Amino acid sequence: MTFMDLDGRAIAILQENDRGGFTIPTRRLYPFQWNWDSAFCALGFATFDPDRAWQEIETLFEGQWADGMVPHIIFRRDDPDYFPGPSVWRTPAEPPTSGYSQPPVVATIIRRLLREGNPDDTRRAAALFDKTLAWHRWFHTYRDPFRRGVIGLAHPWESGRDNSPDWDESLRAVAVAPDLEPYERRDLDHVDASERPHKDEYDRYLTIVSFGRNAAWDADTIARRGPFLVADPGLTFILLRADRDLLALANTLGRHDATGEIEGWISLAEAGADYMWNEAAHGFCARNMHDDVISPALTNASMLAFYAGAGSPAQRTRLAAEARRIADSVPFLMPSWDPARSEFEPRRYWRGPIWCVMNYMIADGFREAGEDALADRIRRDTAALIERAGFYENFDPTTGNGCGGADFSWTAAIWLAWASPTRVAAAA
Ligand code: DGY
Repeated sequence: MTFMDLDGRAIAILQENDRGGFTIPTRRLYPFQWNWDSAFCALGFATFDPDRAWQEIETLFEGQWADGMVPHIIFRRDDPDYFPGPSVWRTPAEPPTSGYSQPPVVATIIRRLLREGNPDDTRRAAALFDKTLAWHRWFHTYRDPFRRGVIGLAHPWESGRDNSPDWDESLRAVAVAPDLEPYERRDLDHVDASERPHKDEYDRYLTIVSFGRNAAWDADTIARRGPFLVADPGLTFILLRADRDLLALANTLGRHDATGEIEGWISLAEAGADYMWNEAAHGFCARNMHDDVISPALTNASMLAFYAGAGSPAQRTRLAAEARRIADSVPFLMPSWDPARSEFEPRRYWRGPIWCVMNYMIADGFREAGEDALADRIRRDTAALIERAGFYENFDPTTGNGCGGADFSWTAAIWLAWASPTRVAAAA
């Protein structure tokens, strides 16, 4: 296929996965609207249908809870292809949703959608501003309950990096509920088991869900008394970047009433990042917020420090050196776990594979930090993976083969918005 053919295929994937105002990540495996998937889809739509791009974000906020949280899945209706569906979550939401959130990339994406001087864009961004502000406030209140300046996840699904080795130790400490109802996974009907999390992880995922359900999904109870709260470089750095973008939006939209609060969040997070610094790993790592145990190795989320503008110059120099070491060790960047570690599994979801949306954000950060060689390599590798394998959910960094779901919306969106060589040529 030529690059133009691939551009056309990417557009077709977004259109085929469009369910009328919102986009599913891929057929059967993920048949609902997912939070950060949807936000990245908007970037793809923006390249050929700006109205549809805004609509993607607007429908995402249809799921927003009264406390500000934007859930990680909006179900709207049940679907036998997916487990756990709305009857397991039993949240009080309408439309039915899950009970945890996901990385808040929306403010950053709204800022990218906003074309200067376009009155329709300005109106739509202004209408989304308070909703986005309320969601950021929810994160700072209920996912940083000790005011440390780091964001913790209350469930591995909240990170979007479900089975990362980052959570192994904290997840092992969660005692599986003795009354856990028997369940049947549906993901294994669609994807090979070697590319998905294990059953003992699912038992614990569902145990944590049952805690939220028994707490009637009260955010404060979940944060302070829940079985899992782990500071995540991914959530922390994505929110720090999104806070900076929200501040820029506040200034553009004349929302000066909001700037003081956002500036306070930014200062707190800039100071808080040290809590996740792992001297032995030369980078920012996940850390259990109850017992302070830190994860031993780097992930692709560690590399988002540059995207967030976090860390001291010395820390950033050491982290960039680690990125170069990893770049020398695999043919394709950026693996989701350090290939030098024994836990590395190149095809198992977030324990090794490459994710195009992470590459997009990581490369953006490296570019802004002046690390052009790393940024260029990541973009080239992303394009090469899609050209060779197709629009897969994720990719094996050792072979370049596609893994997980096929015809994946956010992979198509990242191709259109950033990785496609036709896009690079147009931007030059
Ligand atoms: C899944 O079902 O695998 C999702 O990642 C949970 O959000």
